[in-house]
Amino acid sequence: MIIKSGKPDSASRKAELMRSPGAVIFAGDGEPQSPQMIVDRLGTLLRADQLQPDSYALGGTVGALEDRVARELGKEAAIWLPTGTLANHLALRSHCGTRSRIILQEQSHIYHDEGDALAKLSGLNAIPLANGRPHFTTDELRTALEQAVSGRVLNPVGAVSIESPVRRQAGQVVPWDEMRSITSLCRDEGIPVHLDGARLYMMSAATGVDIGDYSELFDSVYISMYKYFGAPFGGVLAGRREFIDDMFHDRRMFGGGLSSAYLVAGLALDGMHGFADRYGEAFARAEALFESINELPGLGVRKFENGSNIYELLLDSEIDAGRFVERLFDFDIVLPALNDDWPVHLLHVNATVLRKSNEEIARAFSAAAGSSQPTPATPGGQEHAPR
Ligand SMILES: Cc1ncc(COP(=O)(O)O)c(C=O)c1O
Repeated sequence: MIIKSGKPDSASRKAELMRSPGAVIFAGDGEPQSPQMIVDRLGTLLRADQLQPDSYALGGTVGALEDRVARELGKEAAIWLPTGTLANHLALRSHCGTRSRIILQEQSHIYHDEGDALAKLSGLNAIPLANGRPHFTTDELRTALEQAVSGRVLNPVGAVSIESPVRRQAGQVVPWDEMRSITSLCRDEGIPVHLDGARLYMMSAATGVDIGDYSELFDSVYISMYKYFGAPFGGVLAGRREFIDDMFHDRRMFGGGLSSAYLVAGLALDGMHGFADRYGEAFARAEALFESINELPGLGVRKFENGSNIYELLLDSEIDAGRFVERLFDFDIVLPALNDDWPVHLLHVNATVLRKSNEEIARAFSAAAGSSQPTPATPGGQEHAPR
């Protein structure tokens, strides 16, 4: 929408920047993909013979993607699914068999954002732990497991699910030692444990823990193909061969056996290419950038103790946050809008941070926080008036 003065409103400016290949986007997951970028990437893949048709999501480039994920996660097999919601559901449904309880984080995507699919579609009962916190502890899990078998009626737990990083908790992760101890308890009790690792590759780049080391702790692992790998949708679930082979029927039954999935699988494979290096560099760059921003008057960037790629941005009370965000648009920088879920602004780091130098970004933050009119530098180094 264009306002009367002829200057685009802030929503239009943000939308335009989200499509721009030169903008730094401190919001969302990964590099935003415009329709043009997707079409261009498909063209490149086609010319390089990297798009092989599948048959209802069997074989072709879908198979190649499944093989690659299984290999990198150290699992026997993997299956592509059109959504992570379906991946989580099918994994937990299969783990549970005739047992009906699933223990998970209260803050998890499965508990809040998947429409109670476990209960409605599979008769499974989600038991949420760690209300309002990123994760439960091993002791809390032990107590819940005991309660399930010590009451008047036996309600054995069929599976435990862990989400990490936790989307609703600003990307905080389940600390490595806690994850090892929780999964080891599950193993001792003979209870399968599933990882909702939608952002597993990003988490690994942020924490330095190897993807295979994370994956080894779990019986099944789901990762998203669109959050960081630039596919328009989709996820992959990995696990033991017999577990995954059976999943083909459930995928079909739930309406997820898509035809021509190879197009999105090809984009996902493309996005996986060089991911660890790209994100390793982006996170190192961001650490240095935030140190510089912390030197600036009125601004602070706070790291979570067990964070991944999300940081809190603290603004002095005299800085008008809305205006600050708008002024950053003049420098081709996008921050997420303040939302109801978190009390302060959050900065999400992805590979777009590599599109400008740290000096340029820090200068933009300084100008946007100051009272003077900003004077953004053009790529050619010339100054131009703010739009
Ligand atoms: C942690 C987590 N798990 C699962 C999902 C579900 O993925 P999808 O949107 O593909 O169903 C999401 C999506 O936001 C997520 O953040």
